[in-house]
Amino acid sequence: MMMATTEIVRHAIFGAAPAHSFAGFFANTPHLDVHSKAHGKYRRRSSLFLSSCSISRTWNNCFRDYTVRNINDRSQSLKCQCQRVDDTGGMTSADANRTWFTESVSQANQILGDLNGQKVTSFENGSVMPSNVASDHSSYKTRGNYIEDEAWRLLQDSVVYYCGSPVGTIAAKDPSDSSSNVLNYDQVFIRDFIPSGMAFLLKGEYDIVRNFILHTLQLQSWEKTMDCHSPGQGLMPASFKVRTVPLDGDDSATEEVLDPDFGEAAIGRVAPVDSGLWWIILLRAYGKCSGDLSVQERIDVQTGIKMILKLCLADGFDMFPTLLVTDGSCMIDRRMGIHGHPLEIQALFYSALLSAREMLAPEDGSADLIRALNNRLIALSFHTQEYYWVDKRKLNEIYRYKQEEYSYDAVNKFNIYPDQISPWLVEWMPDKGGYFIGNLQPAHMDFRFFSLGNLWSIVSSLATTHQSHAILDLIEAKWSDLVADMPFKICYPALEGQEWRIITGSDPKNTPWSYHNGGSWPTLLWQLAVACIKMNRPEIAAKAIDIAERRLAADKWPEYYDTKRARFIGKQARLYQTWSIAGFLVAKLLIEKPDAARNIWNDEDAEIVNALNIMADSNPGRKRGRKVLKKTYIV
Ligand code: GLC
Repeated sequence: MMMATTEIVRHAIFGAAPAHSFAGFFANTPHLDVHSKAHGKYRRRSSLFLSSCSISRTWNNCFRDYTVRNINDRSQSLKCQCQRVDDTGGMTSADANRTWFTESVSQANQILGDLNGQKVTSFENGSVMPSNVASDHSSYKTRGNYIEDEAWRLLQDSVVYYCGSPVGTIAAKDPSDSSSNVLNYDQVFIRDFIPSGMAFLLKGEYDIVRNFILHTLQLQSWEKTMDCHSPGQGLMPASFKVRTVPLDGDDSATEEVLDPDFGEAAIGRVAPVDSGLWWIILLRAYGKCSGDLSVQERIDVQTGIKMILKLCLADGFDMFPTLLVTDGSCMIDRRMGIHGHPLEIQALFYSALLSAREMLAPEDGSADLIRALNNRLIALSFHTQEYYWVDKRKLNEIYRYKQEEYSYDAVNKFNIYPDQISPWLVEWMPDKGGYFIGNLQPAHMDFRFFSLGNLWSIVSSLATTHQSHAILDLIEAKWSDLVADMPFKICYPALEGQEWRIITGSDPKNTPWSYHNGGSWPTLLWQLAVACIKMNRPEIAAKAIDIAERRLAADKWPEYYDTKRARFIGKQARLYQTWSIAGFLVAKLLIEKPDAARNIWNDEDAEIVNALNIMADSNPGRKRGRKVLKKTYIV
């Protein structure tokens, strides 16, 4: 049963007006609650729940004003979390977990029943049991049902609570793992929550996604520093953790705090560039699935979107419209030679730009931002479609490139030396099909196939329709390399020998065909499903799901698999990895109800296609000189 409850939402943060606030950009938006940094100090905590009335607190010379909003339910668990420890009546987070789980299971019953075209009547050992499993279904179907049931149960178990409300899912929850071995897998990662969030949205469980969106928004501009340097405002954390700490000045009471990590504690201190992009993508999916547009319309959410965009669209030294990032700034969050302009970031960037444009409220103060956004969309899609794309024809073109061309009309714009075409690629490129390369820099094309970037290029419409089909053609043609015994290779091929030593820095976790270096990641199933459904080729995803279903549960839902054909569970793979579980569930749900995938993908934008056609028409030789674009992006 849902009950009314309260959640305290940061309404505004202000104080001594910071010198580095968004003076120009937000100056024309009088009603915006601009998040601002406090000066100097390392701010550790976000204590958002204290009482059920409006409060204000002062931290680090920063006046914070909180107001109470009625969001939903669960006053029971919410209260108990925030009372004195000796006054909780025995209610713990685990209790809250169970309460919510029981509610959710009754909803899951309905959905699973609907999904499988059957009534779910009993509930045993935490697993939903279809009433007619034995009689009506093949053993395959039965196996599928049991696995899905287990996956739902594990996903529910991974839910993390903050003051009694579900706010995310833990990265991995292996009951047999000793705590010393956990590293940061006990955190809620933004990118890892996306498939969890999608699974909950598809199941009609909206609260957790809404809470996640609002709580991570509150973390957005919290100052974290590394060696006295803080990252740009608008950066979303890589992950956060709920900690229970003694209440200031009161030994007998505790409070829960959200502790974000913006990369300053992450292995290698990598910047989570993808977090904000995923946040925007999830926000849009929330609105589309739930029909509740009030979240995206909130002033603080609108501000959050703008802050992310502002950070991504900021002028820098870049010559290209693609986002310039350091190594390890996305799913591959270690040194893997993906610094510069990696495809994954570009596909997410494009998707986030399109999604943000859909959600931004029209107002005078945003005109400049929207203009910059529109220009970037066109330049980004032109640049990627034109220069990242390889197929057999293009490869042959590169093979015959002349070098050292100086002019606006250069064919070999990036001065690529044909020797960069590795022998593996000459063999590997199928007659039918193509893909976007992993990275493009001056005199450097990284020809590795990166799956997430290619799949999300289809999902986001960064790829043309023709290119999208060609990517799926290539996946089919290269099935034994990209899927084999477990979907889906994170990238292909692996770096080996001297290349591995130089590019990864001899990383023992990223040895050839392991982890990020050619390992296979089941979580990628959901992105594959969305891409295939969008292109009306769901059978490709269904085949991959079938392969995954044979092993995933039996292998305890590993984070990744190793070896060329994904035969082994990854050397250091976590078990019960939440995004492996959620990725599988989302893929299953979408295959059963493909229409729902519309809420996730971005449709091709007619105006962008039109602009690109005009550019192509005015340059029949495909030598696109600089006079074509009024805007000064060098494409
Ligand atoms: C690893 C992955 C990263 C993921 C994290 C938590 O670091 O590379 O993408 O977010 O684990 O699962």
